[in-house]
Amino acid sequence: MAERKPIIAGNWKMHFTHLEAIQVVQKTSYRLSEKDYENAEVVVCPPFTSLRSVQTVLEADEIPIQLGAQNVYWETKGAYTGEISAEMLQKLNVRYVIVGHSERRQHFGESDEDVNKKAKTVLRHEMNPIVCVGETLEQREAGETHDFVGSQVRGAFDGVPRTNAGRCVVAYEPIWAIGTGRNATPDDANSVCAMIRSELRALYGDTADEMRVQYGGSVKPGNIHELMAMSDIDGALVGGASLDPDDFARIVTYDR
Ligand code: PGA
Repeated sequence: MAERKPIIAGNWKMHFTHLEAIQVVQKTSYRLSEKDYENAEVVVCPPFTSLRSVQTVLEADEIPIQLGAQNVYWETKGAYTGEISAEMLQKLNVRYVIVGHSERRQHFGESDEDVNKKAKTVLRHEMNPIVCVGETLEQREAGETHDFVGSQVRGAFDGVPRTNAGRCVVAYEPIWAIGTGRNATPDDANSVCAMIRSELRALYGDTADEMRVQYGGSVKPGNIHELMAMSDIDGALVGGASLDPDDFARIVTYDR
């Protein structure tokens, strides 16, 4: 089976001015060593307004944290007030772009089709999408998790060729676990992540073994270790705990 390098990504959501962002990324880097970056790929996803400042710090100080964005629009340019294109992100050396986060789906009405267009746009611009999927509490209680998440995966990857699939990341984030302090048990999370991989295997064959599947939803220093011990969990998408450099660094160094 392919070796998958763990990927720990901090989703800062709508937090920090660019001045604060600079401090947070610097403080995070002080807590990480070269070896930590060998063990896991580390990504931070600041708001758009902080991307340029964070990029500058990362490059000037040669910090091997990868830059990520939280969203993108699929059109290349034009009259789309308030939107940001993939080229704009690519020029800032953005490597990862979160697409289809549940907050975008819930508050901004993003559909599977939108997520699919965004993922393809990101891939066309040599960046890597982090495709978010996950069920509501109602769907979980009705036993619909696998069907629903499976359909989100198929929707997001519709028409994405195998040659590009290997660099895509999928983040399984049960909506009821996001920001609630209530996380899925490692076994439950792993079973959905394994199901996601079997959907990917149906689409891409062995390439699915290279694709990283993260868990997200109330990941903290106290639960990361047991999550990462699971066979099909290859990393974490971390919201709240990524805002604190100590906590985020402890998550990155979960096996130190
Ligand atoms: P949380 O958020 O870690 O604060 O639950 C995770 C996410 O939404 O990516």
